[in-house]
Amino acid sequence: MAQTDLMNTLAELAAELARHDALYYAQATPEIEDADYDALRRRYDELADELGLAEADRYTSGVGDDHVDGFTTVAHVVPMLSLEKVYSREEIEDFANRLRRLLSDELALDFVVEPKIDGMSVALWYEGGRLQRALTRGNGRQGDDITAQVRESGCAPLELPNTAGLVEIRGEIYLPREAFLALNERLLSTGSKALVNPRNACAGLMKRKNAEELRGLGIRSFLYAIARAEGQEVPQYQHQRLQWLVARGCQVHPDTTRLSGVEAVYAFAQAYPERRSGLDHDIDGLVIKLNDTAWYDELGATSHHPRYGVAWKFPSEQLPTTLQEVIVQVGKSGKLTPVAVLDPVFISGSTVSRASLHNWSEIRRKDLQLGDRVLVQKAGEIIPQVVAVIAEGRDGSQRPIAEPSACPSCGTTPVVQDLFHFCPNPACPAQLRERLRHFASKGAMDIDGCGPAVIEAVVSQLGVASPADLFRLQPQQLAGLERMGAKSAENLRKALDAAKGRGLARVLAGLSIPNCGVVMAEALAEHFGSAQALLDTAQAYQAGDQALVESLTPKTGNGPISGLGRTTALSIFSALAAPQLRQVLADLEAVGVDLSQQQAAVGSRVAAVADKAFVLTGTLPTLDRAEASARIKAAGGRVVSAVSKKTDYVVAGESAGSKLSKAEQLGVSILDEAGLLALLAADA
Ligand code: IVH
Repeated sequence: MAQTDLMNTLAELAAELARHDALYYAQATPEIEDADYDALRRRYDELADELGLAEADRYTSGVGDDHVDGFTTVAHVVPMLSLEKVYSREEIEDFANRLRRLLSDELALDFVVEPKIDGMSVALWYEGGRLQRALTRGNGRQGDDITAQVRESGCAPLELPNTAGLVEIRGEIYLPREAFLALNERLLSTGSKALVNPRNACAGLMKRKNAEELRGLGIRSFLYAIARAEGQEVPQYQHQRLQWLVARGCQVHPDTTRLSGVEAVYAFAQAYPERRSGLDHDIDGLVIKLNDTAWYDELGATSHHPRYGVAWKFPSEQLPTTLQEVIVQVGKSGKLTPVAVLDPVFISGSTVSRASLHNWSEIRRKDLQLGDRVLVQKAGEIIPQVVAVIAEGRDGSQRPIAEPSACPSCGTTPVVQDLFHFCPNPACPAQLRERLRHFASKGAMDIDGCGPAVIEAVVSQLGVASPADLFRLQPQQLAGLERMGAKSAENLRKALDAAKGRGLARVLAGLSIPNCGVVMAEALAEHFGSAQALLDTAQAYQAGDQALVESLTPKTGNGPISGLGRTTALSIFSALAAPQLRQVLADLEAVGVDLSQQQAAVGSRVAAVADKAFVLTGTLPTLDRAEASARIKAAGGRVVSAVSKKTDYVVAGESAGSKLSKAEQLGVSILDEAGLLALLAADA
């Protein structure tokens, strides 16, 4: 295939991945199995590798970052990648064959198989045997500093006896099931909400700013890798490394097993699920690693996965339950979604009592009936799904599931489009509520204190019927609502005023325009700069202005607005050309909402600075830290706190200390303030 054809295929694969990510993460209605998604991802990665596509230009689902505001991010010296997943015997064989092909036909297939703990990965840096720093995975390149949390929780050794130099150990922090249940009991007894599963609970706990609260909660870790050792000999084989860790007081998973050959590994993987319920913690698979770590560097990694190991995923747990009822949910665009109400059943860490059935054609395809015994699973261990009817469970008492003949909220007769039913009434109260909820949500206008319950109350009790109405609410009115005191009413009013200045991109993202999420909204706001310019273009585009269509969305190649092709453009611009939406925007402007483009976080990227990692140290003559940092970020750079080989520049001022000497030692470029300013001005 020609290069351009390959690029087109790559773009199609990326679009397909993006669609599935949106279905999975945003709408919680995946269409494909995890294994199929992974296969798609693999095809994309392989093709991207083949085309030599730079990391920065690749599609990412944008969900892989555990960073929490307020935590210091530190660059990982060795990136924290993830493992490629395998689901079948053939895939384990492929892995073994690949090892032999890359290393030697005679390679001993000596593996170490470890349970894959479902917790939170951590990098522990020890210097002279003392814990210096603990980092989360973050985005794989830089993680959050959770040293205090690790220290206080006591989940990993603070000292490694008989250890010199710098040793970085990787492992997984987890909350044992008992500790999780005890924590939940305590939460419930104090009127707080229970946490869904041990993994989320653990991740939440380890990001508590007040680290002392973690004492005595029973948080623990299993350690499983030595990522770096400088000035300390460590054994060559993984099984010996684990013994080395055990000898130093680290917890290593007791079911870790050394196995020879694919046959033995597969048999172990088949038999292991039996032991799962006997563990005091959740695991989501097994990790299969080549025992001889001397090969690891030679094998290297793809952009996402090291080649020395793979993760064997257990088939997701499927359990029977009864389908009691199907309720119809009205979405913000009027889409009617059938939702199964199930007898509660505990699966992979939490109780499932509802599952989206997506649409009525799906219900027919699965031949679901009310009262059926059904098998339920969690896709990706997260999203509940009804897998199939258990045919033997039919006893004649089952009743068919009718397609909706009226919108459950306003009674309007639904229209069917593609596979979906829609309520066509734009004034439908349920749609209005959903749209307002979305408008106020974090991803859109981020109106603090304006969650679903408040939206429900202002719609039903104060007659709010449009986004602009929200901004007209007065504290006296709000204070009259149930469970809203004078203070919260004041705060909500303040939050509304603050939200007025969020800018065009957030407003657009909040309007529930099909095909216009945050990223697209930002691209449009950036390109057009004001609502008026955007609306004018929308009208002309929708009216078929050929020159405009060609310039914004050329038939071949990319147009000026990233991600905007003809279909999306037509969908977004016709929505924006419609009188209803124009009115919504005019009303918002009238109540003082800023409809101009905000200064984006990234001002104008400066090539010399973009994607580079900076460390600031010491006092600069004129710029303070915050200002220097803001200017670097505005130019597209990153500011990290620790100096490593990955640091591009250290900006040093007066009385710079250890960071400066570290930079010198590692040969990292050092700048003074003038040097930084010159760099920032480089291509201005
Ligand atoms: S080895 C490239 N061993 O599973 C990462 N990982 O996708 C190599 N995990 O991010 C890690 N138990 O957080 C390894 N025994 C184990 C593990 C394990 C859990 C997690 C880890 C990693 C993910 C792999």
